[in-house]
Amino acid sequence: MMPRPFAEVASVGVAVPPNVVTNDDLSRVLDTSDQWIVERTGIRERRIAGPEQSVAMLSQEASQRALAAAGVGADELDAIVVATVSPDRLMPSTACDLQALLGAERAAAFDIGAACPGYIFALTVAEGLVASGQGETVLVVGAEKLSTITDFQDRSTAILFGDGAGASVVRRSSGPGRGILSTFIKSDGRLAPLLLRPGGGSADPISEKVVCERSHYMKMAGREVFKAAVLAMADACDEALRRAGVTADQVDLLVPHQANLRIIEATAKHAGLPMSKVMVNLDRYGNTSSASIPLALEQALAEGRIGPGSVVLLVAFGAGFTWGSAVIRW
Ligand code: ACO
Repeated sequence: MMPRPFAEVASVGVAVPPNVVTNDDLSRVLDTSDQWIVERTGIRERRIAGPEQSVAMLSQEASQRALAAAGVGADELDAIVVATVSPDRLMPSTACDLQALLGAERAAAFDIGAACPGYIFALTVAEGLVASGQGETVLVVGAEKLSTITDFQDRSTAILFGDGAGASVVRRSSGPGRGILSTFIKSDGRLAPLLLRPGGGSADPISEKVVCERSHYMKMAGREVFKAAVLAMADACDEALRRAGVTADQVDLLVPHQANLRIIEATAKHAGLPMSKVMVNLDRYGNTSSASIPLALEQALAEGRIGPGSVVLLVAFGAGFTWGSAVIRW
């Protein structure tokens, strides 16, 4: 087998709904304030999709941009991996809807549920498909319509989440040393009760009771999640760097999951990276779960903060609990 890097991230494309909801908009319907939200999270606004914009449609827009940027046709895709916790339907997968929208007839298409690190988990799967010779070109998507699973009567979660999609073409590495240098993924299912949607699945199918109890919406023990996220993201940074044989001072940009500015600052501090080397855009989009890292990556590319040869460290944490990291040489 060829040595690593097997695969590279050839492009990133994104899509967000046009509708901007500010903290002030939320404070008109919830007992909260712009000041509280900015001080505790760093979030200023988020995008909320309307009923006419599905996760598959957001994914299609992001994917078409990623395909165009990589100069790849949808008919060249061997696989489509969509990471989402807010699929359009429970069956079939959003990836299959996306395949039909793109006309990617050759591709195998499937979803993975890994919450906020979903893009990193999907990248890991894509790299594995390329490394094992099962595909040359894989589309990785992180896409969410979290507004449909957020309880807008619960101020502790309603302020956090937003909608959006990001996509990347992952293909065989085009040059020595260029591409995914390492990935690290991990989970601890014992901690699932701290962040979950208790109702609406097969354990407690949708019913009048579920709707009355509002148990089809996300529930989160914020403080516990916060503490676990800080520890896990610190460990994940160390692990991805160790596996890549890269030291922190060789990292050009840290692109962390955009959940909370305080978590991001703690992660950067642990990794020994100044905030000038950290991509932050949660002020514009809030926490978009699996879309968060590609949304941040795309902005970093557009701003010229990532260019050919840049060493980029990705890290994320979310429901499951799940966490993961990756080092990429662009
Ligand atoms: N506005 C005003 N006050 C609020 C709000 C709000 N929106 N929400 C909570 N409060 C109050 C609480 O009621 C509490 O009041 P009390 O002291 O009188 O009891 C006080 O503010 C402090 O509440 P905490 O929950 O302790 O606030 P904290 O500083 O922990 O911030 C937050 C809460 C922002 C949710 C934080 O815990 C957090 O970011 N957690 C991690 C979330 C995360 O990273 N999730 C990642 C995974 S998401 C996924 O996988 C989809």
